[in-house]
Formats: sequence, C-alpha cells, structure tokens
Amino acid sequence: MNAFLTQSFTPKKLNGLALKNRFIKAGTFEGMSPQSAVSSALCNFHGRIADGGVAMTTIGYCAIENDGRLHENMLYMHEGIRNDLSTLINTLHSKDCKVSGQMGYGGGFSKNRHRQRKRPLGPSFGINMLGVAQGMLFCDAMTLQDIDRLVKRYGEAAAFMQSVGFDCLEIHFGHGYGLCQFMSPKTNRRTDLYGGTLQNRMRLPLRVLESVRKAVGDDFPVIGKISLTEGVQGGLDYDDALEIARLLDQGGIDGIVTSGGTSTMNPMIMFRGDNLLQPMLKAEKSPLMRMMLRLAGPRLFKHYPYEELYFLEQAKRLREVVNCDLIYVGGASNNNSFATLMQAGFDFIQLGRSLLSDPDLPLQAKHNPGYASRCLHCNECVATIEHAQGIHCTRFDS
Ligand SMILES: Cc1cc2nc3c(=O)[nH]c(=O)nc-3n(C[C@H](O)[C@H](O)[C@H](O)COP(=O)(O)O)c2cc1C
Repeated sequence: MNAFLTQSFTPKKLNGLALKNRFIKAGTFEGMSPQSAVSSALCNFHGRIADGGVAMTTIGYCAIENDGRLHENMLYMHEGIRNDLSTLINTLHSKDCKVSGQMGYGGGFSKNRHRQRKRPLGPSFGINMLGVAQGMLFCDAMTLQDIDRLVKRYGEAAAFMQSVGFDCLEIHFGHGYGLCQFMSPKTNRRTDLYGGTLQNRMRLPLRVLESVRKAVGDDFPVIGKISLTEGVQGGLDYDDALEIARLLDQGGIDGIVTSGGTSTMNPMIMFRGDNLLQPMLKAEKSPLMRMMLRLAGPRLFKHYPYEELYFLEQAKRLREVVNCDLIYVGGASNNNSFATLMQAGFDFIQLGRSLLSDPDLPLQAKHNPGYASRCLHCNECVATIEHAQGIHCTRFDS
C-alpha cells in the first residue's frame, strides 16, 4: 500500500481528541428529527455509519436554538433532548466512534413554522427564500441586541453540547446560512460595525467562535465549515476564503472544513454531479414551491459535472495561511483520492455522499487498495432530505 494511503488509516489527534483514522462523516442533515426528537432512525443511521469504520461521525445541523432551524424536522439544542442525545452519543462511543455536532443557525433563511419570532433574522432585511411558499416572505435585520443575544446563545448551546457528550463541535460558517450571510457582501448590506469590509463582516463569526471557545475551554476540539466560494457574482470567492481561514485560525479554531457553495444561491457547486433540479421537483410537495422551482431552478441549479476532489486545488491554498488542521470535503470516494489528500497535507477527510451509499467505505478501503465507493453522484439523496424515511441513498440503500 502506498505510504500516503496507509497514512489515511493511521490515528491522529484533533486538539487532543484521539481519532483512530482520518475519516470523518461529513454533516448531512438527516431529516430524522420530527419536532426535534432524537429518533430511532437517527440512532440507526449513525450506528450504521459508526460500524463502517469512520473515526468520527457528525450529527448534521444541530440548530443552536429553535428559531435557528430551517424547518421543524431538525434538532435544536435544548434540555428536553439531553437524555436521548446522551444515549445516542454513548452508543456511538461503544462502537469506537467519536461524535461531532454541527452547530447551525439559518439566519434569514427558514420555513420553520414553530418559530417564536414572526420573521427569521439575518444581517439585513430581505426575502426569506426558503419560507416564501409557506407565506413567510421576509427576514428582518438583526439589531445589535439580537447580535449580542445570538453570540451568547452559541456559547450556551456549545456548553450544552459538550455536557451531553459530543467530542467535537463544528460551527457552520458556510453554505449561505446565518453566519455566512454576515460574511457575504451579497447578503450583508449593513452599514454598522458588522457590515462593509470583510473584517467587519467577520466580526459576528469571530465573536461566535470566541463565545463557543470560552464555553468549552481551550482543550475541546472546535472546527468550522466554510465555503471556499459562494459561486455567485458579488459573493464570497476563493481569495476571500484565504482571509476568512486566516482570521478563524487566529481566532483559535482547531480545524477548517473546506466546502463551497450556498444552499440558496448556488448549491450545485457543493454537490457536484447530476443536476438536483429534477429530483427536487419530484420530491417537492408544495405546488407553489414547485412552480417557483420551475421558474428559478434553471438559474439556481447550475451544471457542475462530478470530478473527484473537486475542491482540492482551492482547498490546498489554505495551507499557506493557516496552522490549524485542514479537513477536506468534496468528492473524496476512493483510495487514490485519500492518498492524494494525505500527500497534499490535509489532516482529515470528510465523506458525505460516498458514505450514504456505502457506509463500509473506510473498512473496505483499508483492506482493498483498489476499493472505491459505489456512489454515482446522482444527488437523489439530497432530494430525500424531507422524505418520511429521512435521507438515504436511492440506489443502494443498505
Ligand atoms: C443529503 C445531504 C445532506 C447534507 N446536509 C448538510 C448539512 O446539514 N450540513 C452541511 O454542512 N453540509 C451538508 N451536506 C453537504 C455535505 O456535508 C458535503 O459538504 C457535500 O455532500 C460534499 O461532499 P461529498 O462529495 O463527500 O458528498 C449535505 C449533503 C447531502 C448529500
């Protein structure tokens, strides 16, 4: 076996947390938490991933509060789920798998009907792209008090997550969600200290990082997922990502996950492969939303054919500006790619779709150098996000 490939199966520590190999399940919102319940489906899903040999799985999109959820079928961090969440995490620990929680906040983007506030809150007033079909047309701009409260809430959610047994927290800074909306000149039109220059637009994300760090202490792993590019004119691009990564590194992050795209404006850059429009149209229940998808779809769902390691060249550039760990995500599905990533200096590898279709990928790949995931990048799994069964591979469900 090539030395770099062997390296991907060796242990490494992430801020003191011993991981048995370099494979981490990427956060893929599971769609298995009606009314924020830690369902048996969610437990079975992560149990199956743990059995396949990853060092750490990620529970996708753990909203830091009820109003931060994109919709009702999402976990939000509160005392009512403490016991069930602890039980899930303990079970995964008994399978020799660590557990990361992805801290999400939707900002001005939500169709959660169980919100306390009438409108979701983002950096600036605007259209709530996700809520339009539910009659939730607009989002409001956060006041300075709202910002202070949000920073505090991130800290409280982080303390809760640490206390229930998570081994690592992943703050979502990308994909067009709340913190990314502040970072992006496309969605942040503020004229106060939180808008304008990139330094100002990074003020809230950096305060959030500081609040999370303070809550969990210096020895607890905190990583962050960023979009290397939003893929839209006037949005964040690859050069901005270098400065964003540098600031997060300086702010004390332990690792950066190198993703891309925005769910609202250019999702396909994140999930390269077959176009999502047709599967989304098939899955969408609301006639109004279907009509909107037909109208906006061709512009929103651009064509990005699948390539292995599609973020490699841009993600590699971060190594020149940060000292923290780098965690690659985006089209890693076979042993050649794992070896390439180790050789390029990445510390860990996140796997999304390749594990949905083939949870045993790490175990199989370790014993068979020619092994490749059977994922076809058809992207039909993405359209199962709101399926009653939750996300699954429509081709090879196991
Ligand atoms: C069904 C599905 C759900 C996803 N949900 C999330 C999510 O909740 N949070 C997130 O950061 N990324 C999410 N993603 C993106 C993945 O984490 C990952 O960045 C992307 O799939 C590219 O990696 P891959 O080529 O290994 O699949 C999701 C992806 C899929 C396929």
